[in-house]
Amino acid sequence: MVIGLLFAHIYSEIRCAENQHLIPLKKMKPYSNLFDLSGKVAIVTGASSGLGVTLARGLSAAGAKVVVAARRKSLLENLVNEIRSAENQAISVQCDVTDPQQVELLVNTAMENFGTVDILVNNAGIANVKPLETETLEEFRNVLDVNVTGTFLCTKACGHVMLKAGKGSIINIASIMSFVGIGVIPQAAYNASKGAVVSFTRETAAQWARKGIRLNCIAPGWFPSEMTDEMFATEKGINFLRRQTPMGRPGKPEELLGALLLLSSDASSYITGQTIVVDGGWTII
Ligand SMILES: NC(=O)c1ccc[n+]([C@@H]2O[C@H](COP(=O)([O-])OP(=O)(O)OC[C@H]3O[C@@H](n4cnc5c(N)ncnc54)[C@H](OP(=O)(O)O)[C@@H]3O)[C@@H](O)[C@H]2O)c1
Repeated sequence: MVIGLLFAHIYSEIRCAENQHLIPLKKMKPYSNLFDLSGKVAIVTGASSGLGVTLARGLSAAGAKVVVAARRKSLLENLVNEIRSAENQAISVQCDVTDPQQVELLVNTAMENFGTVDILVNNAGIANVKPLETETLEEFRNVLDVNVTGTFLCTKACGHVMLKAGKGSIINIASIMSFVGIGVIPQAAYNASKGAVVSFTRETAAQWARKGIRLNCIAPGWFPSEMTDEMFATEKGINFLRRQTPMGRPGKPEELLGALLLLSSDASSYITGQTIVVDGGWTII
C-alpha cells in the first residue's frame, strides 16, 4: 500500500515535470508560418536548368533572397530577372563547383550582397550513362568531381560562414540511385556519387550537430530536366517510368518543394543527417 502510494507520487511528479515542457495552446506560434524563409539567404547550385531552377523559385516564393550559381551565366540571368520581376531579391554567380576558388568567390559574393548564408542547396550534378566495362577513368572521376567534390567544396565554404553564425541548413540533392541500382540505364559513377552524397551528409551532420548546422538530403526519383531529357523524349521512356513507379507517373519538379521547404526552414529544427525520398514510390518495391 505504502509502496503503491509512493509510486503514484513519483509518477505524478514526473508528469508535472514533463508537462512544464509543453507549450500551452495560447503561446503556440502561428504554425502556418513554419515554412517562412523571410530574411534568409539561400545559395542554390546548378540553378541554370532543370530542378535547380524550381528549387530556387520555391525558396524565393517562401521569402528567401537567393544566390543562383552554375556555369551558364545567361541562363542564371534569366532566372534572376524572373525573380526580381516578382519583387524578390536574387543575384547570379558564375561558378564551377569543382573549382575551390570559384566556390570561395560564390560564397564571398553572397556575403557582400546579402551579408550571410543561411541555406545551401547542393544541387549541381552530372551523370554519365555508359556500361562499366567501357566507362573511362576520366568519366568516372568527372562525375565524382562534380557530384561529390563539388558538394564538399560548397559545404565547406558555406560551413565557415554558418559555423561563425552558429546556424544554417544544408540540403544535398541525392537520388533514388543513392539506394538502388537500375542496370538498364548503366551509370555506376552516378550511383556511386549519390551514395557518397548521403554518406557525406550523415557524417557532416554528426560533426556539426552541436554547432547549429543541419544537413539533410532530398533524394528525387524521376523528374524532367536536361539530365533526363532522353528518357522523357520518347513514349517508350515515359512508359518505362510509369510502369516502374508505384504512383504510375514521374514527378513534377514543384513536388520537391515540400521537402525543400521543410528542410530549409525551422520546421525541421530537430532533423539532421536524414534523407527524404521523393519518388512516387520507386524505392518501396
Ligand atoms: N532529374 C531527375 O530525375 C533527378 C533525379 C535524381 C536526382 N537528380 C539530381 O538533381 C540535380 C539537378 O539535376 P537536373 O536533373 O536538374 O539536371 P540538369 O538540368 O542537367 O541540371 C544540372 C545542373 O547542374 C549544373 N552543373 C553541372 N556541372 C556543374 C559544375 N561543374 N559546376 C556548377 N554547376 C554545374 C548545370 O549547370 P551548368 O551546366 O550551367 O553549369 C545545371 O544547372 C542533380 O544533382 C541530379 O543528380 C535529378
